[in-house]
Amino acid sequence: MYNAKYIWPGIVIFIVLFSMPFWMNTGQEQYTRPQLALPAGEKECVEPAEWMRANHMQLLNTWRDMALREEQRVYVSSSGKQWEVSLQNTCMKCHSNYVEFCDKCHVSNSVSPYCWDCHVLPKGNQ
Ligand code: HEC
Ligand code: HEC
Ligand code: HEC
Repeated sequence: MYNAKYIWPGIVIFIVLFSMPFWMNTGQEQYTRPQLALPAGEKECVEPAEWMRANHMQLLNTWRDMALREEQRVYVSSSGKQWEVSLQNTCMKCHSNYVEFCDKCHVSNSVSPYCWDCHVLPKGNQ
């Protein structure tokens, strides 16, 4: 009934297979944050960089709704500063190096915003 000859090799094989995903992963490349080209001569974004990193997609949706549904074209940031609500005239004016900023981060995160089907990318960065 109880046959150690088969049970122990069975347990060993099970443990090896079960732990495979863990040891197959060791020594492999981890995600590293891409080096981004920040706008020269500018120090601040419309909101703190940390917040922008996590929330710029929602902010852009809010901006679109503000401009097109509410005809509200001025955004007041958390620090009280006023910004024109515009993807091109505000975001892309500073972040004019689309390829080395927006796109670089998006590519390494497998994101491809469809905005540029209609909106114009800064010149020379297509
Ligand atoms: C006045 C120039 C300016 C404008 C306008 C601007 N940015 Fe920025 N942005 C910056 C600067 C400078 C930084 C880096 C700030 C820092 O590191 O503290 C930055 C940082 C960011 C980051 C974070 C990058 C990182 O380090 O991970 C994102 C995302 C971003 N901006 C997106 C946007 C979007 C989207 C808009 C439009 C809604 C916008 N920015 C408008 C200058 C600007
Ligand atoms: C630090 C990295 C980083 C930078 C820099 C960055 N993005 Fe993003 N962006 C992301 C990530 C990650 C997502 C996906 C988030 C998600 O799916 O929740 C995203 C999503 C978006 C989306 C929504 C796309 C969708 O299909 O839902 C838009 C629009 C966008 N980014 C615009 C921009 C613009 C414009 C810039 C440059 C001014 C920029 N991003 C810079 C990381 C970045
Ligand atoms: C089907 C075409 C189309 C696509 C795709 C599109 N937009 Fe727009 N968007 C427009 C049009 C048209 C306007 C109106 C321009 C105006 O009246 O100023 C606009 C206005 C905006 C505005 C406010 C005004 C301005 O000048 O920026 C924002 C912000 C915006 N879009 C963000 C986005 C983002 C972010 C994406 C991608 C996630 C996107 N849009 C995709 C057509 C489009």
